[in-house]
Amino acid sequence: MSYVARDDRPADKAARYAEVEAEILAVLDGEPNRTARMATVASMLADAFPAFFWTGFYVVDEDKTEELVVGPYQGTLGCLRIAFSRGVCGAAARTRTTQIVEDVHAFPGHIACDPRSASEIVVPVFDASGALIAVFDVDATVTSAFDASDAYALEALMAKVFAGAA
Ligand code: SME
Repeated sequence: MSYVARDDRPADKAARYAEVEAEILAVLDGEPNRTARMATVASMLADAFPAFFWTGFYVVDEDKTEELVVGPYQGTLGCLRIAFSRGVCGAAARTRTTQIVEDVHAFPGHIACDPRSASEIVVPVFDASGALIAVFDVDATVTSAFDASDAYALEALMAKVFAGAA
């Protein structure tokens, strides 16, 4: 008998996301500081998924028009600033939608902070009012590391941590 999955989330990856999400929410309980929340998310996700080569936030710079500035992250040196008009992070900020790039070297406009990055996912991050506050970027050194299951889990996590979603 063949098993038909309810959706396209691999059970083990979904389970790992569920586990680390619970851990992150427990650690952050009662902590309102946004930098502390971002640093904790980046650290705990990077630790939970060894395939995450670069894991972190680009924050909307309130002093500049449509520009992101690097925030808390785990990994090798990241670019400091990214305009909304550039790269995968800029596309996520501009469109307010998650971007999955299976091969960054084939993506026009991809910003190569580290040439070892091969695929990436960038998720927009909103506050409780629906304002874009950041994007969350994960890079991997293999192509096609991310799929809809990552988007689903990371969007849900960002909503809980930064918009107070239940
Ligand atoms: N590759 C991203 C830039 C950020 S780094 O990968 C850390 C982009 O194209 O937006």
